[in-house]
Amino acid sequence: MTWKTAVILSVSLIGVTSAIAGTASEIVQSRQSAMKEIAAATKVMAGMFKEPRSYSASSFGAAAREIEARAGGRLVETFAHLGAAPGSKATDAIKDDPAHFAELADNLKTYAADLEAAARDHPDAMTGDMRMKAGEAMEGGLLGITPHSSQKISAEHAFHLMLQTCASCHSRFREKS
Ligand code: HEC
Repeated sequence: MTWKTAVILSVSLIGVTSAIAGTASEIVQSRQSAMKEIAAATKVMAGMFKEPRSYSASSFGAAAREIEARAGGRLVETFAHLGAAPGSKATDAIKDDPAHFAELADNLKTYAADLEAAARDHPDAMTGDMRMKAGEAMEGGLLGITPHSSQKISAEHAFHLMLQTCASCHSRFREKS
């Protein structure tokens, strides 16, 4: 190996390590800002359910994709190596029950994917079939609809189940402020 290759190699290795690890405070900051982005995307969708005439399939779909991209394995990764830490509200429960944490992170991804599919299926308007039907919430509550059967539920119901997923995860894995 020439000295030139060695330098290039070591420089790129430093780049790789810092991209994966980062300092504890960088990790905390980046996962908190990912959560803020998730929250902002949720707000965009909530606004459209509240005011269906403001619906835009492209903004709705983009918001769903924002969440999807930050959910699942990606979300788990940002908490796997560093759980509770200074400046972070993450709790030790993440380390104690990683399977439950991962399940909620996956559910978030599933609901976001359902919402993205709904945007693709409804390019022009938020039609009635995207809205929650009478009794739908109760069914979900009583029968505990799982993300796997969520294909059959309305977009609005998927949205509500997604919000419940945020709340379930926060109640166990995020410190109360
Ligand atoms: C699998 C678990 C999980 C899910 C699902 C989840 N969150 Fe979080 N969220 C956390 C944890 C843990 C923190 C604390 C992060 C920290 O302080 O390091 C957090 C923090 C936050 C914060 C505060 C960020 C800050 O500025 O400190 C917001 C806002 C937030 N989440 C919104 C949401 C919304 C909205 C959803 C659902 C659409 C959601 N979260 C889904 C685990 C989750």
